Amino acid sequence: MYIKISTVAVTVLQIAGFVQAATDKTTTTSSSFVIGDYWKSFNSKVDPNNIVLGDIPQTTSNDPATQCKYYTPPTNFNYNTKEWPNLWETATSNGMSETAEFKKVYNAIDWTKAPKIAVRKSGADGALVMTGYDQNNDPDCWWSASTCTKPKLEGVNEDIYTCPEPETWGLTYDDGPNCSHNAFYDYLEDQKLKASMFYIGSNVVNWPYGAQRGQKNGHHIADHTWSHQLMTTLTNTEVLAELYYTQKAIKMVTGVTPKHWRPAFGDVDDRVRWIATQLDLTTILWNLDTDDWAAETSAAKATVKKTYDDFVAMGANGTFKNSGQITLTHEINNTTMSLAIEFLPKIRAAYKNVIDVATCMNITHPYQEDTVTFAPFGAADNAKTSVAASSVAPSVSASVKASTSAGASNASSSSVSQVANSDVAESAGVQLNPNYAVLAVFAIAAYAL
Ligand SMILES: *[C@@H]1O[C@H](CO)[C@@H](O)[C@H](O)[C@H]1NC(C)=O
Ligand SMILES: *[C@@H]1O[C@H](CO)[C@@H](O)[C@H](O)[C@H]1NC(C)=O
Ligand SMILES: *[C@@H]1O[C@H](CO)[C@@H](O)[C@H](O)[C@H]1NC(C)=O
Ligand SMILES: *[C@@H]1O[C@H](CO)[C@@H](O)[C@H](O)[C@H]1NC(C)=O
Ligand SMILES: *[C@@H]1O[C@H](CO)[C@@H](O)[C@H](O)[C@H]1NC(C)=O
Ligand SMILES: *[C@@H]1O[C@H](CO)[C@@H](O)[C@H](O)[C@H]1NC(C)=O
Ligand SMILES: [Zn+2]
Repeated sequence: MYIKISTVAVTVLQIAGFVQAATDKTTTTSSSFVIGDYWKSFNSKVDPNNIVLGDIPQTTSNDPATQCKYYTPPTNFNYNTKEWPNLWETATSNGMSETAEFKKVYNAIDWTKAPKIAVRKSGADGALVMTGYDQNNDPDCWWSASTCTKPKLEGVNEDIYTCPEPETWGLTYDDGPNCSHNAFYDYLEDQKLKASMFYIGSNVVNWPYGAQRGQKNGHHIADHTWSHQLMTTLTNTEVLAELYYTQKAIKMVTGVTPKHWRPAFGDVDDRVRWIATQLDLTTILWNLDTDDWAAETSAAKATVKKTYDDFVAMGANGTFKNSGQITLTHEINNTTMSLAIEFLPKIRAAYKNVIDVATCMNITHPYQEDTVTFAPFGAADNAKTSVAASSVAPSVSASVKASTSAGASNASSSSVSQVANSDVAESAGVQLNPNYAVLAVFAIAAYAL
């Protein structure tokens, strides 16, 4: 059991961290630490090519309650709450921006080159405030304002938001690893389907076997921040911490350090992209949004099913004959994962390829480590992960929510709403189920075919 560390202990740690950092500062100039090597300091005991899951009911049961019971972390990941941000709080919490380790990384970045872009604000309702931002000229390539994906700054990684391969459904699941994902991952494994999995750092340390299973099954693991907040509303230090500690969590638990990340709610601008680029991270967005997170909350399940049906229909009616898409879906809970299992057979019947984003982009090394390799698009290895379009006719519905017009759709500030992560886990350090109101997000269909 983990106990909440006392304020005194935190203070002592912070002082220790400060002294250590001060020492580091003098040595940094003479040391050869460069930011590109940050991931080499993560001392993971996990071999990503040889993951053995604990033989406990949580790793095998299909009953959500059984799967979501607290378990002792694997021996190759010793989860010490003192070494991590508090679960579901900004990653600078628990003194994590004051550690020698973090300061070393922070100080290795040349912040004089960082873009001078304002930290955004969110209103009382949690929605981003866009008043005063020039949405037409969109100087900061702020996706939430314009669905911009091509940075206006030099030296910043450009977003990936679609799979260029024709007739291709880019399979992505956000917000995992969810403690109750066994049936879903069994299904994907059985069907030889690989997805890009955007994991939240808090979930990774909380449910380590869940993340290890993602790596064991060969999914494309990517970073989805520590606490799932609107990234443009965080300071430079907070943005760096959200990304850095999630990179570390994924490496310590699965043995790989991602090269890709996805901002919560898609909220990214050139300032946030620039910081991500320092950690060699490229943003992956989407161009079709199922809004599956809303099923049974702000939207009826039937509405989400209709959206799925439309996207299926588009796979069969030529919409993607010249290039494919990336769809946003979620691992959040039994509701979203059941929808995925229900629709994947129809999706596979309508699309030629149903694949993860690394594969559709021919990214054979999606991690810092060169020990894990992905096959390029079309290689025999992943050909078996897609089925040839069958004669099954998907149901075609009359209207689609998303327009297929060329160019980015226009997200007006009024259409942007966000529900804050209200029910944050108590920071007892126990593996609690955070049970947060995950999404909400933008009721906009970000469509940039
Ligand atoms: C899944 O999450 C949504 C949104 O929070 C909620 O409405 C739904 O009831 C949840 N389903 C399960 C099975 O927990
Ligand atoms: C394809 O299906 C979608 C969804 O039903 C529809 O909106 C679109 O107009 C269709 N396109 C063509 C070319 O039939
Ligand atoms: C994981 O899924 C279960 C139900 O399937 C849900 O109760 C729980 O809230 C989810 N956990 C997170 C962190 O979303
Ligand atoms: C959803 O929960 C039920 C039991 O409540 C379980 O049988 C089923 O396998 C779960 N589905 C997924 C996708 O986890
Ligand atoms: C991936 O590689 C295949 C085979 O060389 C090529 O046909 C395809 O255009 C490439 N796709 C991308 C997105 O680079
Ligand atoms: C977005 O909306 C603004 C005003 O509402 C308009 O001037 C602009 O052209 C629109 N942009 C796009 C890409 O449609
Ligand atoms: Zn998310």
